[in-house]
Amino acid sequence: MKNIRNFCIIAHIDHGKSTLADRMLEMTNAISEREMQSQALDDMDLERERGITIKAHAIQIQHEHEGETYIFNLIDTPGHVDFSYEVSRSIAACEGALLLVDATQGVQAQTISNLYLAIEHDLEIIPVLNKIDMPSAMVEEVSEEVIDLLGCDPDDILTASGKTGEGVDKIFEAIINRIPAPEGDPEAPLQAMIFDSVFDKYRGVIAYFRIFNGKIRKNDMVQFFSNKKNLQANEIGVLKMIQQPEKELSAGAVGYVITGTKDSSDIKVGDTLTLQENPTPTPVKGFEEVKPMVFAGIFPIDNDDFEDLRDALEKLQLNDASLIFAPETSAALGFGFRCGFLGMLHLEIIQERLEREFDQNVITTVPNVGYFAYNKKGEEIIVNNPSELPDPTVLDRVEEPYIQAQIITSPDYIGPIMGLCMEKRGMIKNQVYLTTNRVELTFELPLAEIVFDFYDKLKTISRGYASFDYTPIDYRASDLVKLDIKLNSEAVDAFSSLIHRDKAAAFGRRLCKRLKEILPRQQFQIAIQAAIGAKIVARETISALRKDVTAKCYGGDISRKRKLLEKQKAGKKRMREVGNVQVPQKAFLDVLKLG
Ligand code: GTP
Repeated sequence: MKNIRNFCIIAHIDHGKSTLADRMLEMTNAISEREMQSQALDDMDLERERGITIKAHAIQIQHEHEGETYIFNLIDTPGHVDFSYEVSRSIAACEGALLLVDATQGVQAQTISNLYLAIEHDLEIIPVLNKIDMPSAMVEEVSEEVIDLLGCDPDDILTASGKTGEGVDKIFEAIINRIPAPEGDPEAPLQAMIFDSVFDKYRGVIAYFRIFNGKIRKNDMVQFFSNKKNLQANEIGVLKMIQQPEKELSAGAVGYVITGTKDSSDIKVGDTLTLQENPTPTPVKGFEEVKPMVFAGIFPIDNDDFEDLRDALEKLQLNDASLIFAPETSAALGFGFRCGFLGMLHLEIIQERLEREFDQNVITTVPNVGYFAYNKKGEEIIVNNPSELPDPTVLDRVEEPYIQAQIITSPDYIGPIMGLCMEKRGMIKNQVYLTTNRVELTFELPLAEIVFDFYDKLKTISRGYASFDYTPIDYRASDLVKLDIKLNSEAVDAFSSLIHRDKAAAFGRRLCKRLKEILPRQQFQIAIQAAIGAKIVARETISALRKDVTAKCYGGDISRKRKLLEKQKAGKKRMREVGNVQVPQKAFLDVLKLG
């Protein structure tokens, strides 16, 4: 055990975690040159295409140092704020963290928030200034920032380039000398924490764990602490570039177990794994349950695919414990699921993974944050869907979630950023100069105002020189209304949203305009209206098509006419009928982009 080091790499997005992990794999021969491709650990196509890490990835590498062999279990974590849940799980499995800071960018918002997560879990922090091969690297200034942040010694800070490999050997040394070896008693009852899992079509559920105490052997009967379910460990092993089976793993190890179960409800990320024979009386202190921030309906395009979609969501949940879902029905879309996400990027990724990995064709409804409503009797009602908002006659008040936002920027942009935050109903709480040319602003803002387009707007007004992070604080009463969209007087529930009264009319006008562009013309006129209760706040009209599409065939050419009709029919399949109006699938997606 004394030669094991469990650590993760944490950083702000794009500061170079995956690239550094690549170099570490290469320099320890964990991966051959032939296998080497950049972002080697990012195995999802989506991750490669977008150049971002979505999932944490664990890998074991061996490193020789002064005649001894060390086992490093390295976990690469995502940087984007929507995936910080992945970071907190990785941290719970480690004793140390490399805190990477891009030397051309300096300390950014997620550098700080991920660092705090690591400190909360008592990890040994090794600060590393990365990208020092770049001419614009500001080693001295950024070192000062890191010293301010950590209160560390200047000598504690390493410098490296994940691109050229410079300084990586010093990182290896620091991992050995500064990160403690895992502690734990191999003779105690097995106590392992499941920090991730994945569904494999052939092998069933694969759970990744970190052992804190005890041992696990192949063919042991393992027990899951939360549901007391017993299953046989058909295979256990360690995570190299491929899974490598082992006979026994002991305290301190990071590994995987396959029980053959295909039932995704058996295994829960965060749960404690023990043995049936001599179970541990206490679970491992896991990590906090994640709280979804954004909710949206996900519906199959074809109602017959409802059960398939449920199955896909269950499997996806194994690999993404932050996804939650419950069945719901919509008048416009039929049977589907109300899903909870950590943010808009998370929603987008889930939708894409459902389509790519599970062949599901889905419609996503307008997202909203979760609210608490109180009726006049003082009862609390959870509102994750606009349709759940009580009728105004019985409604006492609605409370919406607030967050504290940290924005780090150059003093030049303080004015525009303050303006943006005010426009988003925010309040400034604090302003601290980190150095003469970098300032940290703290705001309190309603979550609903930041989940959709805040980050894009912030990037535009600061020309990219602002980083942003947020944490939920509380719920506050707010003047929210339900905005409905009606097509020929019939409300389409999938388009409904909850919105602040001051912003409702403008949002309604934008929605109506957008729908006018998206909806195809039909044989009759279509009135698109936005309404708050009975009050219409916006209206657009789509005029009727003048002619039947087949009219120009003069009745002569029957086969051509039939073809046209068939084509029309096929087109309709991708439509949803709302009252008498055909709404293409694209419309449901496009209105999402309005924000
Ligand atoms: P996320 O996982 O999405 O948070 O990003 P990341 O932190 O893993 O960053 P990644 O390794 O994907 O690197 C981001 C960009 O910086 C890529 O274009 C890399 O090629 C580049 N990069 C990373 N490390 C270095 C470095 O040491 N020097 C230089 N010049 N570029 C680097």
